[in-house]
Amino acid sequence: MNLSSEQKYLPFTRPSLDEETISAVVEVLRSGWLSTGPQVKNFEESLAEYLNTNNTHRTSSVSRVVKSFTSATEALEVALRVCGIGPGDEVITPSFSFVATSNVILKIGATPVFVDVDLGTRNLKLEDIPKVITQKTKAIMPVHFAGRSVDLQELYYYANKFNLRVIEDAAHAIGSSWQGEKIGSRGDIVVFSFHPNKNITTIEGGAISIDANRSTEIKEIELHRFHGIIKDADNNTDVLIAGGKSNLSDVAACVGVGQLKQLDRFNQRRKELVELYYKLLSVTEKQRSLLQLPLYPQDQLNREGHSWHMFTPLLNLKKLKITRQEFISSMHKLGIGVGIHYPAIHLFELYGKLGYKRGDFPNTEEIGATTITLPLFPAMEDSDVHRVCAAINTLFSTH
Ligand SMILES: Cc1ncc(COP(=O)(O)O)c(C=O)c1O
Repeated sequence: MNLSSEQKYLPFTRPSLDEETISAVVEVLRSGWLSTGPQVKNFEESLAEYLNTNNTHRTSSVSRVVKSFTSATEALEVALRVCGIGPGDEVITPSFSFVATSNVILKIGATPVFVDVDLGTRNLKLEDIPKVITQKTKAIMPVHFAGRSVDLQELYYYANKFNLRVIEDAAHAIGSSWQGEKIGSRGDIVVFSFHPNKNITTIEGGAISIDANRSTEIKEIELHRFHGIIKDADNNTDVLIAGGKSNLSDVAACVGVGQLKQLDRFNQRRKELVELYYKLLSVTEKQRSLLQLPLYPQDQLNREGHSWHMFTPLLNLKKLKITRQEFISSMHKLGIGVGIHYPAIHLFELYGKLGYKRGDFPNTEEIGATTITLPLFPAMEDSDVHRVCAAINTLFSTH
């Protein structure tokens, strides 16, 4: 690696854990109670409170309940089950996502029905939903890609029109909002991820946010999360379904409690870093022709509500003399990590078996083939962004 002695490797993402959280975790480790307990209760209540407050444009007075999980993947699967979705049913979702989004649909025996995404926002083309509706369609599972909210008004318009459940894959969107309302503060079922590369982490983890009035579904979520077991007031146990095992530990939840306190600050810093990327990467004609930046949110409220989980420009490989992999390797040699989020799901072998093929979703395929994820995490300095942009400029000038 050609790194000068003072330059450290800059990964494309890194979690920020403060000393207060680390000390709190040590206390939990010493407490003798490691699995689900008071920390999980605290984390779930704190997250519900976070979602239920600070909504500048709240339109309903309904509050939310949060149920935590060992991952968003588990939470998405349980959400589908609670909606009664199973074999023979179809779920509309983008092919442009992490594969967990559509894998869980397959796993419960239903069929993912893909729709293309918009090249600028990278979010599901909602206007294409009516084209794929059949008698079997039961739900829409959109992704708020990189923390940019899907248009919730249009999404729920189609859901109501076609009588569909909505499971929002908000794995990237903790702290995001749409028109001033936090993602997860409204809507049908909303699922977050707390994997270490997300805006806040519980090491591994996820959560469901659901309307507090849906007591039957909330109970079902709990059953699926822990073996289908219920206990009555006298602590008598019964089992109602063959549930799974995806309850969060107190150790993980304690990390989440510490992270949640810093979420707004983290997201603010992400926004500042992204502003700098936009400023530095759209200066010259050459940059603009070789790198297509994600569409900058024009609407002020939605700009403020973008949590910038990732910054993912597209490389214009038709004009560049190097491949994406060569670009990534060259950046790596300069000590800069670059990721790929995500390859098109419908082109994976498993999804080819459903009949999907190249050409089905042109925008998803173009993004999948040309996208790069540049370093973005709250502990980055402005100088890190300058360094990344200088490295890109050097590569562009030689290729
Ligand atoms: C869009 C999306 N959905 C779901 C998941 C699954 O999250 P988890 O790793 O918490 O299971 C991820 C993880 O990266 C994701 O990016």
